[in-house]
Amino acid sequence: MPLTVFAAEADAEESARLRAALEAAGVSAELSNTPEPVRGAPPPAGLGPGVKVLSVFVGSRVGDELLAACPDLELVATRSTGYDHVDLAACGARGVVVANVPTYGENTVAEHTFALILALSRNVHKAWVRTQRGDFSLAGLQGFDLRGRVLGLVGTGHIGLHVAKIGRGFGMEVLAADPRPQPLLAEVIGFRYLELDELVARADIVSLHAPYTPASHHLVDRGLLARFKRGALLVNTARGGLVDTEALLWALDEGILGGAGLDVLEGEELLTEDRRMLASKHDESALRRLVENQLLAGREDVVVTPHIGFDSAEAVQRILDVTAGNVAAYLAGRPQNLVAARA
Ligand SMILES: NC(=O)c1ccc[n+]([C@@H]2O[C@H](COP(=O)([O-])OP(=O)(O)OC[C@H]3O[C@@H](n4cnc5c(N)ncnc54)[C@H](O)[C@@H]3O)[C@@H](O)[C@H]2O)c1
Repeated sequence: MPLTVFAAEADAEESARLRAALEAAGVSAELSNTPEPVRGAPPPAGLGPGVKVLSVFVGSRVGDELLAACPDLELVATRSTGYDHVDLAACGARGVVVANVPTYGENTVAEHTFALILALSRNVHKAWVRTQRGDFSLAGLQGFDLRGRVLGLVGTGHIGLHVAKIGRGFGMEVLAADPRPQPLLAEVIGFRYLELDELVARADIVSLHAPYTPASHHLVDRGLLARFKRGALLVNTARGGLVDTEALLWALDEGILGGAGLDVLEGEELLTEDRRMLASKHDESALRRLVENQLLAGREDVVVTPHIGFDSAEAVQRILDVTAGNVAAYLAGRPQNLVAARA
């Protein structure tokens, strides 16, 4: 009997590519899909009893309510590195294992980090809007060189290390903060570790590459922002919850930050849901977040992209191949890339 797989946040094309990757990995599957994220109950058509493998991306929320609607579920295969959108405790309680894709795109996300940095440092976003209107004037578009500037990295895992290498390539001084430093790699790549407080006081650009966990919730809050070098840029391609959005707006208004490049936003999942929001039981804080995000996106000193750091053709193929490999390994009794609850 073929395995029943449900893929959420996968359009027809991605679903077809996942089917091909599963076949290549030797898995014969009956695959249903929805381009929408899956959250609570009721689940979409095709997701329920009988489904053994659920594959999601970061807009979905896999919690107890959804799990209860899928009593035969055995594996959640998230097509992402981060897995804060999956309630690991709830999965564990129901014997559902969770696998991720640990390393599909360190270069991909690092390259996008520099897309945001360069957009801000050379005012590409402002220039583009003007030239679209036929305005080719230079006034107000002067940028600054990256060469000689200080890049501060919060997190030096797969992505952070790649950003460090690119930063060095631009001739930047690179500093980093990480509770688990890698001194040998720091020496080879050419960067120094500092405490976070010291890093933000020295960096011209602070870029976040740490995972979002209860411990890192609002790591960048008003207290930390007050210590930033005046006029610094903040870049976040990690997770929205690392930054207190209200404090970010405050720091931009006060001129503490000269700008921000954001691929991820706190509560970003609500941005595609404004119609549903009106009819639903979302609380006041969710509505507040929605307004704050709209305020951020409307600012000239902020560049927002809709969580596309991972989204290159090569990276998506790697994601699908590893996800299919995760499913095949699980079926063969040798599960791989399993994730465990973190503090
Ligand atoms: N924008 C996107 O499309 C996209 C794509 C992939 C990953 N991401 C995000 O990027 C994050 C980083 O990915 P990665 O592959 O480099 O992860 P990783 O696990 O390889 O590295 C994370 C690093 O952060 C460090 N860290 C943990 N807590 C920290 C803290 N409080 N302060 C400083 N450092 C801390 C860890 O010690 C580790 O070295 C992921 O967790 C994910 O949320 C975003």
